[in-house]
Amino acid sequence: MSVILITGAQGQLGIALQATFPAHSLFVPLFYSKSMLDITDADQIESCIKAHGVKYIINCAAYTNVRLAEQEVATCFQVNRIGAGYLAALAAKYHIVLFHLSTDYVFGTNTGRPLEPNDPTDPLNQYGRSKRDGEALVAARATHFYIIRTAWLYGEKGHNFFTKMVALAQKGSAIQMVDDQISSPTYVYDLATAIWQIIEKIAKNSPAYYPSGIYHYTNEGVASWYDFAYAILTAFPNSCSLTPRSSFMELQRPYYSVLSKSSFRQVFQINIPHWQHSLSRCLKRWQSQ
Ligand SMILES: NC(=O)c1ccc[n+]([C@@H]2O[C@H](COP(=O)([O-])OP(=O)(O)OC[C@H]3O[C@@H](n4cnc5c(N)ncnc54)[C@H](OP(=O)(O)O)[C@@H]3O)[C@@H](O)[C@H]2O)c1
Repeated sequence: MSVILITGAQGQLGIALQATFPAHSLFVPLFYSKSMLDITDADQIESCIKAHGVKYIINCAAYTNVRLAEQEVATCFQVNRIGAGYLAALAAKYHIVLFHLSTDYVFGTNTGRPLEPNDPTDPLNQYGRSKRDGEALVAARATHFYIIRTAWLYGEKGHNFFTKMVALAQKGSAIQMVDDQISSPTYVYDLATAIWQIIEKIAKNSPAYYPSGIYHYTNEGVASWYDFAYAILTAFPNSCSLTPRSSFMELQRPYYSVLSKSSFRQVFQINIPHWQHSLSRCLKRWQSQ
């Protein structure tokens, strides 16, 4: 039985990993929230690794408030850069496979085509810079690692774009949504399932089949925030109004951050659902909860 440590387990992805953990599996998961394990404390991480004989880490812990990060720069870098670096160094020391989550915010330049994992990074804000630096430390220190960049995570629970739109629809709000930022909405349960599938594959096969490096995972397809909002609101006909607007004058964010998943598909051979199909599943689950 291999022990898998999941950090930041009370966050959106951590909760989805708990919900999708394969029951039949030969793994023992340790779902550790921030209050149980602070990734900015290297001694705490090392004690946990030694006490439980951890073989895999899925690092879901992160400072993710993009707006607040502009003011709380030091805290943001402490978690996203220094914390990621501690996990990577300890993963190398104890021969642990490290999964580290990252973001489309590491990109900034508008290429107008899907971004490959080795495209140059060029973050536009502090959150993006902290995540880019975290990636760099993971790549430099860990020996067996997977940096998985994703984008626009949502699900039927917690604080995310989907639940925000649903709340606005229920209030009958007049919604204005930007139509000039493009990426791929990603159902958090699809990402969580994909991570478990990868771990099962690594455990069964030679690690040589699955080279360490940066991979991209989002749902298939492309949308603007306006498109995404429109698709969610079709489930609430005549309840509110939706109009497009420009993102001019907002905090700088990537305009076109569609992530290419070619290398992910090729290496891991995992099917990736289209965002519209996944949104339908999310809506059904929301309706039945
Ligand atoms: N959400 C998205 O749209 C999105 C998009 C692209 C990439 N990502 C990346 O995906 C990963 C997971 O995101 P998410 O949406 O699940 O984020 P989330 O919901 O904000 O969860 C992050 C968790 O990390 C915890 N945390 C913060 N500082 C910590 C520390 N020092 N030690 C341990 N835990 C700590 C947070 O606890 P508190 O809440 O108590 O601070 C929270 O429970 C992150 O790496 C994020 O950058 C997310």
